[in-house]
Amino acid sequence: MSQLITTLAQFPLHYLPLTMFFSAISALSFIHIAIASCAHGVEWVHPFSANVVPSTFSYGTTTGPLNWHNLNANNSLCGNGTNQSPILLNTTSSLAPSGSITLAVPPAKNVVFENLGTNVEVIMNGTLQAGNAAWNLAQFHFHTPSEHRVNFVHYESEMHFVFTAADGSAKITVLAFLIQIGPNTSYPFLEDIFSYLPSIPNAGQTTQVPTVDMGGFVSDANKMSYYQYTGSLTTPPCSEGVSWYVATTPIQLYVNTYRNVKNTIGTSNSRYTQNTLGQMNILQVAAKNL
Ligand SMILES: *[C@@H]1O[C@H](CO)[C@@H](O)[C@H](O)[C@H]1NC(C)=O
Ligand SMILES: *[C@@H]1O[C@H](CO)[C@@H](O)[C@H](O)[C@H]1NC(C)=O
Ligand SMILES: *[C@@H]1O[C@H](CO)[C@@H](O)[C@H](O)[C@H]1NC(C)=O
Ligand SMILES: *[C@@H]1O[C@H](CO)[C@@H](O)[C@H](O)[C@H]1NC(C)=O
Ligand SMILES: *[C@@H]1O[C@H](CO)[C@@H](O)[C@H](O)[C@H]1NC(C)=O
Ligand SMILES: [Zn+2]
Repeated sequence: MSQLITTLAQFPLHYLPLTMFFSAISALSFIHIAIASCAHGVEWVHPFSANVVPSTFSYGTTTGPLNWHNLNANNSLCGNGTNQSPILLNTTSSLAPSGSITLAVPPAKNVVFENLGTNVEVIMNGTLQAGNAAWNLAQFHFHTPSEHRVNFVHYESEMHFVFTAADGSAKITVLAFLIQIGPNTSYPFLEDIFSYLPSIPNAGQTTQVPTVDMGGFVSDANKMSYYQYTGSLTTPPCSEGVSWYVATTPIQLYVNTYRNVKNTIGTSNSRYTQNTLGQMNILQVAAKNL
């Protein structure tokens, strides 16, 4: 547990469901974490703050994505934001100019790998050059199925690398990779990390992966092209102004590994597709004539 608290204090970006939160962390620890998160200057992406008990959210029914806006006043953009993620992508979607992102993630030892209840997350140091700015890697995590759809179709999974602005502003960039399952290839770093899933079967559990070297993947990522748009966090509070880069080339994962990821997360954790950027929130559209 102390390991978890340390991790949370260092990395305020991720969210935790309330159930896990109460089972894993005492009220006193929470205050410590909350202060750390505000000091970091990115509390707007983080459902914890110094003054408030976090709102609970899930991928279920009444606390699921259709109702996130009612769980906390700070989640209103989930229900009325007009630049929300994820979106439909297709061959006419805007691409970032080629060579406009440069990812660097050095090999690391004793890498923290956590089960958050609604996600599994890896905490590593890294940098991204994108949009003429420098970004620092906070964590990466996985959704099943994918959140973005290409030509209306979901992929089996999607990996999100979440970055904060190196200049200390509250901006966020997410580098996203659609994941396809198949029999033949997978990146060794994903197999290494996911081989530790049996150590974190339950929400709130943390383990360490002895070594993670994603050199081959980073090299491939730097050659890929990316859909680029400005959208939102796909989890409460659905904050907008998030810069998205979604790789146009899906990456591969072995089917058995995928099943282990899915079963460990224990819930499908994809937000439904949002409306075209700039258009009325899809919930408001759907509510007409109800
Ligand atoms: C919304 O977020 C702000 C800033 O973090 C916080 O002060 C406020 O208490 C939150 N409101 C609710 C209803 O949680
Ligand atoms: C969304 O709803 C909140 C809370 O009712 C309101 O303050 C905000 O102005 C609304 N935003 C938009 C874009 O309609
Ligand atoms: C691609 O997506 C855009 C934006 O949603 C949409 O306007 C367009 O009709 C789509 N094109 C195709 C071929 O589906
Ligand atoms: C990330 O960098 C910090 C500061 O240099 C260091 O303390 C930490 O161990 C690093 N994390 C990993 C996983 O290498
Ligand atoms: C996997 O490899 C086998 C044997 O080389 C090949 O026949 C098959 O087409 C490959 N499948 C995919 C999805 O690449
Ligand atoms: Zn995500």
